Amino acid sequence: MNQIPVFKPLIEREEIAAAVESLELGWLGMGSYVKQFEEAVAGVCQLSPDNNKYVVAVSTGHAALHLSLLMMDVGPGDEVITPSFNNAADFQAIRACGAEPVFVDIVENTLCIDTYKVEELITDKTKCIIAMDYDIFLCDHDSLLEISRRTGIPVLHDAAHSFGSSYKGRPIGNQHQYTMFSFDPVKTITCIDGGAIIVRGEDAVKRLHAKRLIGMTQPAAQMYTNSRAWNYDMEELGFRYHMANLHAAIGVAQIKKIDEIRRTRQETCNRYHEELSNIDWLDVPKAEFESVNPFLFYVRALNGERAELQEHMKRHGVDTGIHWQAGHSFSFLKDCRSGSLEVTERIVEQILSLPLHSKMSNSDLDQIIHSVRSFK
Ligand SMILES: Cc1ncc(COP(=O)(O)O)c(C=O)c1O
Repeated sequence: MNQIPVFKPLIEREEIAAAVESLELGWLGMGSYVKQFEEAVAGVCQLSPDNNKYVVAVSTGHAALHLSLLMMDVGPGDEVITPSFNNAADFQAIRACGAEPVFVDIVENTLCIDTYKVEELITDKTKCIIAMDYDIFLCDHDSLLEISRRTGIPVLHDAAHSFGSSYKGRPIGNQHQYTMFSFDPVKTITCIDGGAIIVRGEDAVKRLHAKRLIGMTQPAAQMYTNSRAWNYDMEELGFRYHMANLHAAIGVAQIKKIDEIRRTRQETCNRYHEELSNIDWLDVPKAEFESVNPFLFYVRALNGERAELQEHMKRHGVDTGIHWQAGHSFSFLKDCRSGSLEVTERIVEQILSLPLHSKMSNSDLDQIIHSVRSFK
């Protein structure tokens, strides 16, 4: 029997041709393809110098988080509020700055940050709030902006799951001072590995260009012509976090397909919703799929039998995933401050990610739906 994976990359002729072309160019580091990739990301997010927002491509989503926090001057003694229900990369990026995560709960119907509970956790040590769009849901960005305006605490928007989605008609990337994307192997758009920061103002872009290039003030404009300067300064801490041409070339080829990727994923989510939402032991989310580029599709086993469901589906040729374990359950993070995590505690016991691929075949979808429905 065909074993259906949770994630399946859409690597077709175009991505392979782009990769070969970028290798044949003979400039393997950061170069002209990275410029093209940043322009393509800016196009999807509808950024322009008029709104003073720019894209800086980096090597991973984790690098994008780490650099964004450093740009906000997050350091030792500071606290960063993040959902405990978040990716390991967010927690590690906070700790990499020498700061402490403070765990906040999520809202039951979207699994995104609970903005009421955020307010209870703010102290004079709070340097930043990380708000992460989860799967098919977007955060309540209006409330987050209002909190940020009132308290002066900036929001770092983790949009690793929502590249190509729109919030109230505006593409993701425009809502906050810092937004990050991930283009890792399993994302809707992949560079194999890659990330990007959307930032406001040319000064911030200039600093980020040096910070991603191990601190070297090499002009990006020159590197984007596939050459380099031999004289440069080093003014502050930096990391080897730049994106390479090969990765960027694959990302550019992927972004050309974003409409098809979004449409086919939306169709699969709609079908999941139609076929699974009348099962009484299962909670199936319904988002406004037409405004999102769905990354994952999760269900919640309400009968305490998630492990059994996962095992049953595996026997029927369907892999599933768990996104995620709670941050506060990791030994590395067990002493972090938190508020009530009542919803998080419940969700992490119930949640199960079903396979979601771009251009998923009807026969795979039938097999997945049957594997869920035949459980009870
Ligand atoms: C919400 C979220 N943030 C950040 C990351 C980190 O991105 P990357 O894997 O590109 O480092 C991920 C990766 O899965 C993620 O899901």
